[in-house]
Amino acid sequence: MIKVNVDISHALPFVDGNAFKGIEKEVSAAHRSLIDGSGKGNDFLGWLNLPTSIPAEMISQINEDADRIRRLAEVLVVIGIGGSYLGAKALIDALGYNYPMIYPNPDFPHVLFAGNNLDEDYHYDLLKILDEKSYAVAVISKSGTTTEPAVAFRLIRDHLERKYGKTNVGFRIIAITDKSKGALKKLADAEGYRTYVIPDDIGGRYSVLTPVGLLPVAVAGFNIENLVNGAKEMQDHLSGTFTAETNPAIRYAAMRNALLRNEKAIEILVNYKPGLVYFSEWWKQLFGESEGKENKGLFPASVTFTADLHSMGQYIQEGRRNLFETVLSVDQPLNELRIPLDADDTDGLNFIAGKRLSEVDKMAELGTRMAHTEGNVPNIRISVPVIDAEVLGQLIYFFEFACALSGYTLGVNPFDQPGVEAYKGKMFSLLGKPGY
Ligand code: PA5
Repeated sequence: MIKVNVDISHALPFVDGNAFKGIEKEVSAAHRSLIDGSGKGNDFLGWLNLPTSIPAEMISQINEDADRIRRLAEVLVVIGIGGSYLGAKALIDALGYNYPMIYPNPDFPHVLFAGNNLDEDYHYDLLKILDEKSYAVAVISKSGTTTEPAVAFRLIRDHLERKYGKTNVGFRIIAITDKSKGALKKLADAEGYRTYVIPDDIGGRYSVLTPVGLLPVAVAGFNIENLVNGAKEMQDHLSGTFTAETNPAIRYAAMRNALLRNEKAIEILVNYKPGLVYFSEWWKQLFGESEGKENKGLFPASVTFTADLHSMGQYIQEGRRNLFETVLSVDQPLNELRIPLDADDTDGLNFIAGKRLSEVDKMAELGTRMAHTEGNVPNIRISVPVIDAEVLGQLIYFFEFACALSGYTLGVNPFDQPGVEAYKGKMFSLLGKPGY
């Protein structure tokens, strides 16, 4: 059953109805090119049928490796950057507890991330933690040549060898990389690390349902079968329907393109759950890297309400009118908490005594939508009943599919990222890398 609902009724008044119908036709054409594989970047469509083609043996193998890591390590360090860590971080944060003391799941290894920046203090602090904890490492790089994870792996391998002895570290390392290319693959073969392959035809930001995302999520103790099943359900649903009315990905892609053509060039993904902050980061990479090229694309931004209503809320309500909101709305929390009655009512809050916190949160969401749409901020609402592995699987596939449709509608190749290379050349020449 599809649990993701896309409501564009509070965005429609901001676009011309006929123009929207025209864009819907363009997105339906993009849908055809995606499904028949005739669009740009069609050598990177491995993600399209991935959910229905993940072998059951691979899931079992990942769960077995996760069990093995759980037995030998208190911490799993996931080394990777961009698409090689954001999906795992997004899922573990969304499914786990909110506070570090019981984060992410008290009975399973803590999953810590490295190699997604070059900050010395961040990595110094990590090594301090690793001095005290037993640990294993998942080093993830599709190209096997990205600087940040390679530097972090060098630091952590050195730490592992000093801590456990040079000949005693191989079984603590899992490499997830290309099947044949790259320095990481060479090292993994030479040292005999357990490896998983990132398929050639799946780019980093579309790789969360490969071992890149599945292994760390399984180690953290979450159900990867349910995650993949959710994605399968969404794959079946989106591949077979062709109108904005029946296909939520067409509806979403058509509306964001319609708004872009109406000078709404910034899309803000809004959530009301701190546990979804990294889901927004994953979404930003997906859309930013897929669409931001050839001087085109929406700028993907994100906020977490109600916290950011007290910071970015002012701009959204009254700043430059070039933005719209896409609210990721979760109907039900997992736990129940009611606001107590206070005999003195000194804070004047007895008018909400007895209500659940989520009822108040929902009124904040509704009130914010009313205020922001009155302030000329169109609102797309993507709602789900709860956050669990199945729903997250549906959401991930939904956004991947919608992103591909949206990129094709813009006229770009949603599967390359030529601009990511620009800074590297400058950095390498400043560092004196031979050949730069
Ligand atoms: O989406 C992408 O392809 C990029 O963001 C990559 O994930 C990121 O640059 C990391 O690359 P790699 O996995 O090759 O180290």
